[in-house]
Amino acid sequence: MNIAVIGAGYVGVTTSIAFAEQGHHVFVVDLDKEKLEKLNHSILPFYEDGMEELLMKLVEQQHLIFTDSIQAAVRQSELIFIAVGTPPLPSGAANLEQIEQVSKAVGSALQEYRTIVIKSTVPIGTGEKVEFIIKEELDLRKKDIEFDVVANPEFLREGNALHDALYPDRIVVGCENMRARKMMEKLYQNSIAPILFTNRKEAELVKYASNAFLATKISFINELARVSEQLGINISVVSKGMGMDRRIGADFLRAGIGYGGSCFPKDTRALLAMSSEVGMPLKILEAVVEINETQVDWFMEKIVKSIGSLEGKHIGLLGLTFKPNTDDIREATSLKLIQELLLHKATVSAYDPKSTDIVTKIYPQVRFATCPLDAINNVDASILVTEWDEIIQMDWKEARKRVRQSYLFDGRNVLDPKKMVEYGFCYEGVGIGN
Ligand code: UGA
Repeated sequence: MNIAVIGAGYVGVTTSIAFAEQGHHVFVVDLDKEKLEKLNHSILPFYEDGMEELLMKLVEQQHLIFTDSIQAAVRQSELIFIAVGTPPLPSGAANLEQIEQVSKAVGSALQEYRTIVIKSTVPIGTGEKVEFIIKEELDLRKKDIEFDVVANPEFLREGNALHDALYPDRIVVGCENMRARKMMEKLYQNSIAPILFTNRKEAELVKYASNAFLATKISFINELARVSEQLGINISVVSKGMGMDRRIGADFLRAGIGYGGSCFPKDTRALLAMSSEVGMPLKILEAVVEINETQVDWFMEKIVKSIGSLEGKHIGLLGLTFKPNTDDIREATSLKLIQELLLHKATVSAYDPKSTDIVTKIYPQVRFATCPLDAINNVDASILVTEWDEIIQMDWKEARKRVRQSYLFDGRNVLDPKKMVEYGFCYEGVGIGN
């Protein structure tokens, strides 16, 4: 099929590559000409392992075409995907400005029947809104052209984006009639993933509810970790025991210094704002957000309790991105941690394989190291913030020789406490009571 994907961000580019890899012809639309030019030369606007190679192949095969013309893309495509950003407003609600602009542009470009599919994470009722805006544009042009608006949320994870887009657990399609459903069935006819057809609003809520539920699992285990520490219990063992129950599942039960990224923090707040708007604020989600927002404070208290005043102390941070295998630092816990450490008048060194350039601009006071060992050279405490393989597998024996004091705080519970103690570290994890 010929498909237009409007918005060349994480979701837009990944979705385009996945469709192109499945044999479709994809027109990728964005206003940013520089970004398009780079994509055309197989340079991604973000880091995702293995994706640039595939991009190069698909550009060469002309399965991917980059354009800044919504009109040209809409006219040549049967399906129009909207994958623009929905950043948060100060209230936490999603800002739909880009969705509205794109809907208008689609309305003014339509010449014949098209299926418009919303991929962006959007508040409940956005499908209707998009339909209304397109209809308004057509009325202005005095055109009576039929079209359908479908909700088809994306569930990909950064760092696993391509795999998740090519082999999803499920595909959720929210549509309001058989015509749209048939188009979506045609698109996904070769997919091995089960497809759930719902109405539009249900599909929109599945997306928020899924992210909110995963965030709930994390905040649940993080709060329990605080309790475990008081009770002298190891939360990792408790997580394992819980996760062995298939009804609970082992994923997203890893205690740590909190979740970050461009999705969980934004989507939990947006769902909270939506539920409050209808007079039913989700109490459980209020707690989820609050626990996450205080997790770094709790972690800082642990550090101060162990090593005393941080004034003049040298702290080494290992990892800065919100999770490994990405260069993304949006809402990363490292940023709050650095802010707190600097407020406590500590000196901070840090190492991250991918995000140093961006963090340097925010915190020029931090010394950025070229390797993990360099980051903890002569420090009074080392803090593992992001579980990059390179950091987990570094030479910890050698690391012990480099540090001034042996305090080691594992913010992701990924190191072997026994081994670390053997190497001479004074090890503390998250919720690992002795
Ligand atoms: C998340 C969802 O997992 C995707 O399904 C969804 O499509 C995406 O948001 C989105 O809405 O676009 P992502 O933000 O890329 O994906 O990252 P996750 O792997 O979900 O991790 C989010 C955060 O939770 C990270 O900071 C991670 O360190 C933290 N986390 C995860 C924990 O603290 N503990 C865990 O057990 C798991």
